[in-house]
Parts: sequence; structure tokens; C-alpha cells
Amino acid sequence: MKKKLIVLTGAGISAESGIATFRDADGLWEGHDIMEVASPQGFKTNPALVLDFYNKRRAQLAEVEPNRAHEILAELEDHYDVTIITQNVDDLHERGGSSNIIHLHGELKKAKSSVVDSHVQECSGSIQIGDLAADGSQLRPHIVWFGEAVPLIEQAHELVTQADILLIIGTSMVVYPAAGLIHAAKPGKPIYVIDPGNPELVTDRVQFIQKTATEGLAELVPVLTVNLPT
Ligand code: OAD
Repeated sequence: MKKKLIVLTGAGISAESGIATFRDADGLWEGHDIMEVASPQGFKTNPALVLDFYNKRRAQLAEVEPNRAHEILAELEDHYDVTIITQNVDDLHERGGSSNIIHLHGELKKAKSSVVDSHVQECSGSIQIGDLAADGSQLRPHIVWFGEAVPLIEQAHELVTQADILLIIGTSMVVYPAAGLIHAAKPGKPIYVIDPGNPELVTDRVQFIQKTATEGLAELVPVLTVNLPT
């Protein structure tokens, strides 16, 4: 049976595809204060701006491609039982070929009711004011905003407890509860972190590779696959 490799990813893994990270630009995300476009209050204050912001992010997906890091994670399925827990709302892990992906913070390519969280539908185009969910409420992006519950966190936590190896890539590790998942790794199981910056590393168990996602994975994969059957 293959060992379980659980991978927690953040905005950094998509940086080399050309998608801006959140905190590498003075708290501005594509020119906006994060709370303005990623909070229920922001949506209440200016729904048109928030819808437009995510419409642009959704449209941007057509202009970007998965990078080598996304592809390498898919290739690791030859050696490991891999599950990706991503904070990203892009679809680059899917397009990079990974099979098991949990989107902790939602997905750009989905929309949902603004009253019932579980009323989710596919969304490839844009969402406008007046576009309604089946329950008659205004459609909104299927994004977990600041202050909202993270419905998949328990499932993610359970997966990390089962990990033989935990690999964390491209996240500042400051947004909870996602950042707290590192504590669910069982004692003795290796934890690798790949990030060219200075993520918040709360445990000295971490083996830190201070490189970009593509460079760090190129270095780590031979370590992870040595002596493993192909
Ligand atoms: P951040 O923007 O907070 O952190 C991005 C991380 O990626 C930083 O640690 C960078 O050093 C690193 N990085 C930059 N370039 C990289 C590269 N080429 N390869 C690897 N790493 C690189 O993004 P997240 O930690 O993902 O939530 O942010 C967490 C959450 O906060 C997001 O999911 C989002 C945001 O607000 C919501 O939208 C709800």
C-alpha cells in the first residue's frame, strides 16, 4: 500500500503561474485591501465591487497555466497516496493533474447562494447583481471569506493526522484555521516546508527548504522517491 502524502498549499504555489499572492504586496491583493474583497462586510458594503473582483480572478484563470510544481505533485501519485489540501481558489491543481484536492477556502469556478452555504453551483462566467441562486437569493462567489466558517477543516484535519509525510508549500501560515493543520501531524512524521520567504513556522519539527515551489520540489522529490517502487 502506498504511503500517505498530504500536501498543504497556499498562494505561493501558483505564483510561478502568474497569480499574485496575498501578502507579498503590502496587504494589497491586486490593488485592493483584502478585507474589502474577502469579507462578508466587504460584500455588504459594495457587492458590485466584490463580484467584479472575483469575476476578474475567474477570467484570469483562462490566461494562466499550471506550473511545474502543480505537475510534480500530480506525478507524485505514482509513488504516494497524495491528497492536496489547498487554500487556493484557482483550479491549477486540477489542471496540473492531481486527483484528490480539497479546497479549504472555496473555488472560483463555483458560485453559491448568499443565504444557504451548501447551495453551490458551477460557475464558469461572471456573476452579476441580480443573478439568483435556486433559492432566490443573490448568487455570490463560492469563497470562504474572513470571519466565515471553513466547512472542510475537519476533513482536512483528519487527513493530516493520517499523513506519513506532510508537505507545506507557498503559504505564509498566518491564516487560521488552515495554518493550525500543521499541529495535526503525528509525532515522528516528517514535515517539509517549501517557501522562498519566511512563513510562520510554529514547530521546530519542520525541514525548511527556502526555495520557490518549483525549485524546492525539484530538490525534494528525489528525497521522497528514493527506494520507492515506481
Ligand atoms: P500568502 O500571500 O499569505 O502567502 C504566500 C506565501 O507564498 C508566502 O509565504 C510567500 O513567501 C510564498 N511564495 C511567494 N512566491 C513563491 C513561490 N514562487 N513558490 C513558493 N512560495 C512562494 O498566501 P496564503 O498563505 O495562501 O484566504 O494565504 C492564506 C489565505 O489568506 C488565502 O487562502 C486567502 C488569503 O486571504 C481567502 O481568500 C479566504
